Amino acid sequence: MIIKRSNLFNIKKYEKQFRDAGLAQGYASLRKISQLYLLRHSALNEIGTKLENLDDEYSANFDHNPIHHMEERMKEPASLLEKVSRKQIPLDTDDLFGNIYDIAGIRVITNYLDDIIKVRNALVKQSDVTVIKEKDYINHPKPNGYRSYHLIVSVPVFQDAGVQNVPVEVQIRTVGMDTWASLEHDLRYKSFADQDKADQYAAELAQYSEQLFTIEENMQRIFTGLQSEKNEHES
Ligand code: GTP
Ligand code: MG
Repeated sequence: MIIKRSNLFNIKKYEKQFRDAGLAQGYASLRKISQLYLLRHSALNEIGTKLENLDDEYSANFDHNPIHHMEERMKEPASLLEKVSRKQIPLDTDDLFGNIYDIAGIRVITNYLDDIIKVRNALVKQSDVTVIKEKDYINHPKPNGYRSYHLIVSVPVFQDAGVQNVPVEVQIRTVGMDTWASLEHDLRYKSFADQDKADQYAAELAQYSEQLFTIEENMQRIFTGLQSEKNEHES
């Protein structure tokens, strides 16, 4: 099951109102954004279905399913505009936001550490999936302690108007990494008047990320041990 938040809107129904108000240009820009969201959302559906099919296969054919759960979201337009201004990304008027790859995003939360690469490989080997970018923040965590496996993939989207390859951001991480990232994200937006306190919390968070990672390595070891015992018993 995927928890979905689509943030799609229908621009067509406002066309007349825009024109009557003398805002034809504004309408044209909004229409471009709405087409972009539509395409990215379709690509998200394609990748989401692929991952759901893998989830079904693991459930039906194996005694371990690497996927704990999945979440997908379309980037909120406010957050898109914030990113463009924060990173000073130049906008091509013909391909508005075309160089921003995380408008459609899906997060796969796995049970164990080894499950991350399993899911990554199962997705990437599909013949219609192309890897555009890949970042391994698991073996190379960010200085603040953030861990996750990031992929930008593209997938063909078939519309009545034709076919295009469209990017989707896929984040794969364990339950522990996901818990850490959610809390860190939440804490980041709380402002501290006291810089010393902020530094201390940041150092603590980095330390908790290490501790969680150690715990997950140990859980992996127990799981792998039990699996091989089971296999020996069955053979
Ligand atoms: P964005 O402009 O934020 O998309 O970053 P980026 O294009 O440099 O890519 P990066 O791989 O660093 O991050 C992409 C996404 O990963 C972010 O939008 C977050 O969802 C997540 N992420 C990256 N770094 C952190 C972090 O330090 N903490 C948390 N909680 N999430 C992070
Ligand atoms: Mg992002």
